[in-house]
Amino acid sequence: ADGLHAPVLPWDHKKPLATFDHAAVRRGYQVYKEVCAACHSLDRIAWRNLVGVSHTENEVKAMAEENEYTDGPNDVGDMFQRPGKLSDYMPRPYANEEQARAGNAGALPPDLSLMIKARHGGADYVYSLLTGYQDPPAGIEIREGLNFNPYFPGGAIGMARVLYDGLVEYEDGTPATTSQMAKDVTVFLSWAAEPEMDDRKKMGMKAVTMLAILTGLSVYLKRHKWASMK
Ligand code: HEM
Repeated sequence: ADGLHAPVLPWDHKKPLATFDHAAVRRGYQVYKEVCAACHSLDRIAWRNLVGVSHTENEVKAMAEENEYTDGPNDVGDMFQRPGKLSDYMPRPYANEEQARAGNAGALPPDLSLMIKARHGGADYVYSLLTGYQDPPAGIEIREGLNFNPYFPGGAIGMARVLYDGLVEYEDGTPATTSQMAKDVTVFLSWAAEPEMDDRKKMGMKAVTMLAILTGLSVYLKRHKWASMK
């Protein structure tokens, strides 16, 4: 069965000329890092992608350096460990699929990079999924290790509810309610699925502005040129 259809929410970044809510992207990164990253990878995002979006370059460098990456081979043919740098991609929680399934009762936590694009309902679906955990209706048995969530197709999902009020502490003082964290991490994942969206909208705005100026100019010149004709 299909999941319950997620209600459509008024996401700022879906408005025609609006860019992402960058404070929300920053809070959402925090939720991803402190909660989701324990099980989900984000393979398509490199540290450098966060620079100027949610964090400063110095902040991102420090965040990257907290992780160890395997590099090499060096001059003598050995692999070695080094701290992360801006060009490295987000670290993965598990070495391989086998380990990931073993840690999740057989279920595989999917990579979240393109999740917003991959699922029907996109941001609305992910928000509803994160906030939609509830007791199964009378008469519905949920197998051990699965959890009832009406938004998940089939209703029984291998991921348990992860967001609870107060789970993270936001540095900007925003109260970390379940719905606030779900919103912020969904905005973060929407950005991750389309990191070029802001630039695209800004370019579009410039193009429209230039065209308006050129149109105005050509109307003015045409009138001026033909003004002497009756
Ligand atoms: C699946 C998001 C945290 C384990 C999923 C899916 C999404 C998601 C969107 C895909 C659902 C679908 O297939 O339609 C998130 C977010 C998290 C988070 C945003 C943080 C706020 C976690 C954590 C764990 C986990 C901490 C492990 C303890 C899983 C597993 C699945 C899954 C095992 C596969 C479920 C199945 O196919 O039955 N998650 N997740 N997730 N997640 Fe998470």
